[in-house]
Amino acid sequence: MIQIDEKEGIVIFQDKKYNIGSPEAFKIISNAWIRSGWDAKYVYSFAWMGRPIIQLPEDMVRTQEVIFDIKPDVIIETGIAHGGSLIFYAGLCKTIEKGRIIGIDIEIREHNRKAIEEHFLYPYITMIEGSSVDESIVNQVKTQLTDEDKTVIVLLDSNHTYDHVLKELRMYGDMVSVGSYIVATDGVMENVVGAPRTNPDWDTNNPKKALEQFVKENDNFIIDEPTFPFNEGVITERVTYWPSAFLKRIK
Ligand SMILES: C[S@@+](CC[C@H](N)C(=O)[O-])C[C@H]1O[C@@H](n2cnc3c(N)ncnc32)[C@H](O)[C@@H]1O
Repeated sequence: MIQIDEKEGIVIFQDKKYNIGSPEAFKIISNAWIRSGWDAKYVYSFAWMGRPIIQLPEDMVRTQEVIFDIKPDVIIETGIAHGGSLIFYAGLCKTIEKGRIIGIDIEIREHNRKAIEEHFLYPYITMIEGSSVDESIVNQVKTQLTDEDKTVIVLLDSNHTYDHVLKELRMYGDMVSVGSYIVATDGVMENVVGAPRTNPDWDTNNPKKALEQFVKENDNFIIDEPTFPFNEGVITERVTYWPSAFLKRIK
């Protein structure tokens, strides 16, 4: 149970009092906000340049910080849905004047495909339909990469089970360039067990557990929190659906 006294500027949690502006209080409130947002389906309420994007805006902003920093030649994303994230990344590529996107989805619905293909940012996008862990699909992605593509980042946002994400990490990891990232999104599943639209096994069956296993078996990668490029406040942790999601390739 959390008590918030806005007038006094205090938060009471587990019999402890915190100043409302402290990092501890911010984390307590943020965790509750994440849980409330999960139940309220808050992430299903945004569009990016006309296409629905199923992301927490803070995750988009933080990813933008990383993409602007590394300026990838290629952004690979598994999980297209309505195409909002493809359009988001394509817009960044247009602005930076560098990069293109390869998106993979097991089912690209006709109306989504049409809307994405008609979008003014479509020239930056290649879509591949099929399971992201199907060998032939992975080979199709690989054939899109050339020697010119020095910096490649991969974002995994398709099927979020442990087995699927671990397979994706193993199959896409070697496409990531040194200094860049493979990002296993939606580790939040671990923290929302018991909420609507969850399964009881999500405490272990989730992308975060998969990435933890992957870094144990692959010493080319470490879990790395990208540092905030700007921070004049006291908060140093992301408010996110993607806890510990960024795996940096170090060799
Ligand atoms: C969470 S949505 C993606 C959201 C999108 N990235 C965005 O930000 O708006 C997950 C997508 O993964 C796709 N998917 C599920 N299983 C898949 C698989 N085995 N391979 C590829 N895509 C898959 C689903 O069809 C769905 O469109």
